[in-house]
Amino acid sequence: MKVTMENLGKKYEGRENFTLRNINLEIEDQEFLVILGPSGCGKSTLLRMIAGLNSITEGELYFGGKLMNKVQPKDRDIAMVFQSYALYPHLTVYDNMAFSLKMQKERKEVIHQKVMEAAEVLQLEDYLYSKPSDISGGQRQRVALGRAMVRKPGVFLMDEPLSNLDAKLREHMRVELVRLHKQLGTTSIYVTHDQTEAMTMADKILLLDGGEIQQFGTPNEFYNTPANLFVARFIGSPTMNIFDGVYQNGRFVSDNGAIDIEPKDADKELLNAHEGKKVYLGIRPERLLAGSKENSFKGRIDVIEMLGKEQVLYVKLDDDKEVIISQPGHYKYEIDEIHDFEFDLDALHFFDGETTKRIN
Ligand SMILES: Nc1ncnc2c1ncn2[C@@H]1O[C@H](COP(=O)(O)OP(=O)(O)OP(=O)(O)O)[C@@H](O)[C@H]1O
Ligand SMILES: [Mg+2]
Repeated sequence: MKVTMENLGKKYEGRENFTLRNINLEIEDQEFLVILGPSGCGKSTLLRMIAGLNSITEGELYFGGKLMNKVQPKDRDIAMVFQSYALYPHLTVYDNMAFSLKMQKERKEVIHQKVMEAAEVLQLEDYLYSKPSDISGGQRQRVALGRAMVRKPGVFLMDEPLSNLDAKLREHMRVELVRLHKQLGTTSIYVTHDQTEAMTMADKILLLDGGEIQQFGTPNEFYNTPANLFVARFIGSPTMNIFDGVYQNGRFVSDNGAIDIEPKDADKELLNAHEGKKVYLGIRPERLLAGSKENSFKGRIDVIEMLGKEQVLYVKLDDDKEVIISQPGHYKYEIDEIHDFEFDLDALHFFDGETTKRIN
């Protein structure tokens, strides 16, 4: 089901300001949307508005072209999974998952098949006849997911459903949820504050901050063309390096002394309107390479974090600014070595010094 939001806004009673404003968005049928943003930015508020658990202060919400603003949650054809799951304590795992289908008077064989399918995907087969109190928190969360999955809703809503799971299981569940989404093809809206989850799971990401949309697009767009400095810093780990500077005579000259680089012609064309003005230059840690002296800076390796396939170098410039550089794990580096680190000119991000909006 296609979900459309037009100028959606939310102001909680007793609050002075709007928590969310100007939310314009189209989620295509069968798409997996991730709503991402820091704590308090309004992710859950938006999801609950879609679910009908929060009223809509202004704007319109449509499911498949049908106005939903005043439709009761139970009539919206949604299933929702929260971070804090509530299972029926007196029912077994099996009966918890079967519950909604029984209420819908589904045939016994159909219920059994759907529950067993979900149990297999969620690795709950060994616990089907346990009570919620006898299984771990992670297993209970999987039961909550299973309970929502078996209903095959028009829209599947999830609010940080993996955040109570341990790291390994979370990674596994990420892949399983994506696979499951491919199988079921249900339009899904998934809330998280974890950029890795967003990047790995989403067809499209909606990044919110301060109740406003910062960017809406594919993970690829977020990584390669972040719309502003906030997005650039929020996405990617380790985070993008940002240098303050001025654009002058075809060159970016940094306040951090040693950095003076000549952008490519295409970038220059866009930067010309900023001649003599403050701009930010961003570059991702893996696009700085120990190399030639051209378009490079000299830095001393302060700390090396060896992650196996990758190593993260924390490099100090003369004025003590730290630059983060990611290199393949098998390269040889030593603490206190001094290198020329070269900017990959195909990977420069420029942002306006005033508005912080992307320039190139
Ligand atoms: N029922 C409510 N009444 C008044 N204000 C609320 C209510 N619920 C949430 N808020 C406020 O709205 C803002 C957004 O909250 P929301 O829970 O949507 O954030 P979030 O992005 O989901 O954060 P988190 O990542 O911590 O879950 C916060 O400032 C919060 O205090
Ligand atoms: Mg929340």
